[in-house]
Amino acid sequence: MITFDAVTKRYPDGTTAVDALTLEAPTGEITVLVGPSGCGKTTSLRMINRMIDASEGQILLDGVPVSGIDPPTLRRGIGYVIQQAGLFPHRKIVDNVATVPYLLGWDKKKARARAMELLERVGLDPALAGRYPFQLSGGQQQRVGVARALAADPPVLLMDEPFSAVDPIVRTSLQDELLRLQAELNKTIVFVTHDIDEAIKLGDRVAVLRVGGRLAQLADPKTLLSEPADDFVREFLGHDRGIRRLQFVSTKGLRLRTDLTARDRVASDEPWSLVVTADDRPVGWYAGSRPEELEPYGTFVLGRDSMRSALDAALLSPSGCAVAVDEDGKVVGVATREALDEALAEAADA
Ligand SMILES: Nc1ncnc2c1ncn2[C@@H]1O[C@H](COP(=O)(O)OP(=O)(O)OP(=O)(O)O)[C@@H](O)[C@H]1O
Ligand SMILES: [Mg+2]
Repeated sequence: MITFDAVTKRYPDGTTAVDALTLEAPTGEITVLVGPSGCGKTTSLRMINRMIDASEGQILLDGVPVSGIDPPTLRRGIGYVIQQAGLFPHRKIVDNVATVPYLLGWDKKKARARAMELLERVGLDPALAGRYPFQLSGGQQQRVGVARALAADPPVLLMDEPFSAVDPIVRTSLQDELLRLQAELNKTIVFVTHDIDEAIKLGDRVAVLRVGGRLAQLADPKTLLSEPADDFVREFLGHDRGIRRLQFVSTKGLRLRTDLTARDRVASDEPWSLVVTADDRPVGWYAGSRPEELEPYGTFVLGRDSMRSALDAALLSPSGCAVAVDEDGKVVGVATREALDEALAEAADA
């Protein structure tokens, strides 16, 4: 566990970057620091591994003040990932990843084997190992940055806007990859971003900071969205807070109709029917006009995906209905507009 105990950082020019910050980043969880530019996120992060020393208060690592641990020893247990990956341009990918193992005196063969294993772990083709950083895409470089931080298997990972320099699609896949890795590795992660969506997606807990380095709210994402502490947090969460909140509403109890699916394109009394294959996979919506014309559909996995996904699925289709499928992609029913409205009304009351 990482503990900030009334930590203040004043720079020599008098700027207070962090002001009496108190918070805990629990072991094995992702704690996200989020807030506008200049609110002290990077400063807070760097005080953990002593790249910056606190002016007042203290930071404890599993109860031990970091001020009493010499920086090289401290950093051996802390991986650090930054924006643009920060790779060494003249070292091959494999040697970039093996940086810390080399520093720890591992022999070259063992260090490289570890690096190859990690490249695979973060979803990179091992064939890239012999390349130089400039020969990789931005997203690939970020993955290398993550692999490098994990190389010595540190219990703590500090990540400062690691995914902010890549396009939205690559960013999403890097986020998914991080969550997948974390499910295996259970690191204590402090993740900095200014993107509230990223914070909500990744954080077990989210700390919202305001300029001047003061903590505005510390909460799990669901609580943050449903009970913002003040106007600053509400504003920071944005106007689509209501929609975001639906990410945390289950589709489990959603009322489904099973009488709207059909194997054949035959006219019925209903304005729409969902054509499915012999093994119940969706093909398209049929409006009873020309049999060769099917309209697009959207699916969500019942019980696993959120109400937000169900709503997205409904909006993808002119039928206005969302197709509920099971984990194997087989249709289990259809959520009509009315059923979705009903569920949304219930969620708003909750
Ligand atoms: N070396 C320094 N000397 C003086 N002031 C500094 C120094 N480093 C940062 N600051 C100031 O401290 C405040 C917090 O900076 P910090 O880099 O921690 O913010 P941040 O939240 O990471 O911002 P961003 O989202 O832009 O990365 C800012 O006002 C910044 O200008
Ligand atoms: Mg920063």
